[in-house]
Amino acid sequence: MRAVSQQALGGPDVLETVEIPQPTLRQGQVLIRLAATSVNPVDCKLRAGLVGFLGEPPFTLGFDLSGAIAEVADGVTEFRTGDQVFGMVHTRTGTYSEYVTARADNLAPCPAGLDLATAAALPTAALTAWQALELAELRAGERILVHAAAGGVGHLAVQFAKLRGAHVIGTARGVNHEFLRDLGAEELIDYTTTDFTAAISDVDVALDLVGGEYGSRSLRVLSPDGRYITALQSDVGEDPRYALVTGRPSRPDLIVIGKLVEAGQVRVHIDRTMSLGEAAEAHRVSETGRVRGKLVLTPW
Ligand SMILES: NC(=O)c1ccc[n+]([C@@H]2O[C@H](COP(=O)([O-])OP(=O)(O)OC[C@H]3O[C@@H](n4cnc5c(N)ncnc54)[C@H](OP(=O)(O)O)[C@@H]3O)[C@@H](O)[C@H]2O)c1
Repeated sequence: MRAVSQQALGGPDVLETVEIPQPTLRQGQVLIRLAATSVNPVDCKLRAGLVGFLGEPPFTLGFDLSGAIAEVADGVTEFRTGDQVFGMVHTRTGTYSEYVTARADNLAPCPAGLDLATAAALPTAALTAWQALELAELRAGERILVHAAAGGVGHLAVQFAKLRGAHVIGTARGVNHEFLRDLGAEELIDYTTTDFTAAISDVDVALDLVGGEYGSRSLRVLSPDGRYITALQSDVGEDPRYALVTGRPSRPDLIVIGKLVEAGQVRVHIDRTMSLGEAAEAHRVSETGRVRGKLVLTPW
């Protein structure tokens, strides 16, 4: 089968399509014929060696997947061959691949009304956004500030926050403001022209998807019992208001999210769809930091 692999850490050009044996299943796993995967910024960081939790190359990148079950190992009772699923894996064999192995309990059935490209755009971004708001215990009527609101995590966080009844403020370039207003954001700050710390205050929850000095600056706009949730390292160290979110696989969360998207209550914006044969180019696009919503990859 074909997979995207890399022999060394480095720039996008280290990504190459190779022929490798189809993976074999271990207990509790399923084999999925990939319909689609999506690019997350962490893929680029792993490729370059800026984060190292996959170990040394060669490895195959990719966390998100949708597709049809091709084989089921012993111990899996909830899925059968042919079932369409979506979900998240954290393995060295990744999802940039024709066939993917995954633990069955990290997957959810793909709702009938959800197309497989949209389903593949969801797992990491949506689970991170969803679990961040859970961690923040965001309540109706509260004010939430979402940084990088137009990105994969951000545009879903905006919509999940609206569903919780929050007042949503986002940071994004002006070109993304109409897009975000359509998704429910009430206030938008163009961070290229306006310092958000001078523009807003009394924020109950700041969701930081930028990191660095956005941390200490976000603390300055919080209300006295505000919470600062970050998906990245920032300059905030020990602080009672600080919490780090790590998007983790969760079938129950995927089921709820899938239903919201199927019902049209949440929209997934796909910036563009590319082929896995264009993985290097897709990484270049992701690394511009300008992707609106998600970048989806489909097999060769
Ligand atoms: N901890 C975790 O489990 C976890 C999970 C998912 C993601 N993350 C991290 O969270 C970050 C966001 O992920 P993502 O998937 O949403 O990324 P993404 O889709 O690549 O984000 C792209 C967006 O970032 C916006 N942006 C760039 N610089 C900005 C700035 N200074 N202020 C405001 N917006 C800015 C851009 O909007 P404009 O064009 O409007 O600038 C663009 O739409 C990444 O660093 C990622 O690694 C962590």
